[in-house]
Amino acid sequence: MSESSMKYLSSHQLRVLDRRATQKFGIPAILLMENAGRAVAEEVLRFRPRPSRVLIFAGRGNNGGDGLVAARHLAVRGVSCAVIYFGPPATAGSALQFRILGKMKVPLLLWSALPARRRKALLARCEVIVDAIFGLGVSRDVEEPYRAAIEAINRSRKPVVSVDIPSGLDADTGRVMGVAVRAARTVTFVAPKLGFRKPSARAATGKVIVADISVLGCRVRLRKKV
Ligand SMILES: NC(=O)c1ccc[n+]([C@@H]2O[C@H](COP(=O)([O-])OP(=O)(O)OC[C@H]3O[C@@H](n4cnc5c(N)ncnc54)[C@H](OP(=O)(O)O)[C@@H]3O)[C@@H](O)[C@H]2O)c1
Repeated sequence: MSESSMKYLSSHQLRVLDRRATQKFGIPAILLMENAGRAVAEEVLRFRPRPSRVLIFAGRGNNGGDGLVAARHLAVRGVSCAVIYFGPPATAGSALQFRILGKMKVPLLLWSALPARRRKALLARCEVIVDAIFGLGVSRDVEEPYRAAIEAINRSRKPVVSVDIPSGLDADTGRVMGVAVRAARTVTFVAPKLGFRKPSARAATGKVIVADISVLGCRVRLRKKV
């Protein structure tokens, strides 16, 4: 769906829609995560030539969980993937995805334990980066070790696909929270974020692709009676 034909939504509105999907309609949150991660993997596979090595940066929240699902789908499709993570997953959904990837023997690399040379080599060898560090949950200026990771991603000049929102961008204001990923493409869920309208945000999001993840958007009016 094209971004221009859709209404921009605030993070509050998106969380209300998420809650409606999970609580009112009983769609398990893990299913939304699956749909989100799969949409990201499909976007990565649209690059030409088709990438054979992808590096996924996964934060500790659900945005990271979406990135881990993308890693699984890419690995299943024969793409060589490695995941860089920042500590134990902080949500049940991302913890589950982390365990699955471990069993699949997808390399899970702790950023703080990687020597500088290894970080550089990983960034140099990959063809596409998936940025799943922060999404809607960024709540303050980006702190270490995330700042260094975002700066390294930007320095690599590799094409980046951001998950939902470029990490470090505030979804509502479009403000850069100290530092933000500069993406080639952003796969955003349900609707474009309010902050994407700001010119400063445009530089960070790149092309915005809106993905349906089974959360009914506000354009959908539910009939009370059938
Ligand atoms: N229902 C669903 O499952 C569903 C539906 C649609 C989309 N999603 C995905 O979930 C995302 C939202 O997930 P989420 O609410 O878990 O948030 P998140 O975007 O994954 O970020 C939350 C994590 O980031 C950390 N954090 C935030 N700001 C930071 C900063 N400046 N420096 C360091 N750490 C920081 C938080 O740590 P602290 O706890 O220390 O603040 C927390 O660990 C969406 O963007 C989308 O990708 C999920």
